[in-house]
Amino acid sequence: MWEKRPILLLLLATAAIMVGTIVTMIVPFMSVNTEADRIESVTPYTPLQQEGRDIYIREGCNNCHTQTVRPLVSEVLRYGEYSKSGEFVYDRPFLWGSKRTGPDLARLGGKYPDAWHYKHMDSPRTMITGSNMPDYGWIKENLLDPQMIQRKMETLNFPYTAEQISALAVKNEMDAMVAYLQKLGSDIPWRKAAETTIIGELNNPFTGDKGAIEAGGELYENSCAPCHGDKLEGDIGPELTDLDMDDADLYQIIHNGISDGGMPAFGSIGSDKVWQLVNYLQSEDDN
Ligand code: HEC
Ligand code: HEC
Repeated sequence: MWEKRPILLLLLATAAIMVGTIVTMIVPFMSVNTEADRIESVTPYTPLQQEGRDIYIREGCNNCHTQTVRPLVSEVLRYGEYSKSGEFVYDRPFLWGSKRTGPDLARLGGKYPDAWHYKHMDSPRTMITGSNMPDYGWIKENLLDPQMIQRKMETLNFPYTAEQISALAVKNEMDAMVAYLQKLGSDIPWRKAAETTIIGELNNPFTGDKGAIEAGGELYENSCAPCHGDKLEGDIGPELTDLDMDDADLYQIIHNGISDGGMPAFGSIGSDKVWQLVNYLQSEDDN
């Protein structure tokens, strides 16, 4: 019927497309970059972080890493609180990306201690077995150039002081990169809010089970040894042979991490695996 009346069809099709455009583009754009979008706690990058960000772009880290956690359950469980538009007001250009060869980095800040990043950047495989991320140890040979950051400040309109800028002269590109990585997604205090309280009794389902201890040992080697040492002797994190903790406390620490201490949360590996780790640590405990 309509297809025999081309003018009417054209008008109706245009109207249909306009409705779609208004709903999916114009309406959302009206609420982007308004005052309501601003987040008080989001601050500009410091000179050191800004340098790190530029090296991140220069090295093409964004070809393998995205910087946006989408509001989907699977993403929030893996990476943390989903990204808010107000968190990117100082990103010029933004680095959201769409291809993930490596994990998303939007919520990286505070996940690991600085020392972890220095080692991981030096040689990713010492921290994550089988990582295919390239080594970037060589960037620590390059010192930063305060003159350059002065020029960037003028372009970006960031309020740096003369002391902040001259302090850069003793820093290298690795320092800048780590400072930048620690800033990512940490302007809003999401980590504390995301900690789950475990309701009810925590009962160890595997007490004394040899198989569980062995499985826990393997998990330890892959996930914990880079920070706590192959023999639990301690390295970036403390030694774990002298814990004197009950099973439930240990479970909570592994599940939630220690958000202001640099111990990542491992709750997402599932409760069976966390219990296997608990049993392994208890079996290695001197007490
Ligand atoms: C060829 C792809 C590739 C490139 C390029 C790359 N990465 Fe990675 N990155 C990975 C992969 C894969 C992982 C996961 C394994 C690992 O942690 O090493 C990863 C992990 C990471 C992690 C740990 C994230 C976490 O939550 O555990 C950080 C931090 C990181 N990369 C930073 C960088 C930086 C900074 C650069 C640029 C200097 C970079 N990456 C370049 C592939 C890449
Ligand atoms: C990125 C490095 C890192 C990784 C990976 C890591 N930890 Fe930790 N861990 C730490 C740091 C740092 C602390 C000290 C935090 C504090 O007390 O403020 C810590 C603390 C702990 C504690 C408390 C120790 C005490 O004496 O209070 C336990 C238990 C622990 N980690 C177990 C584990 C287990 C099990 C794994 C593997 C599933 C693991 N950690 C992986 C860095 C790490």
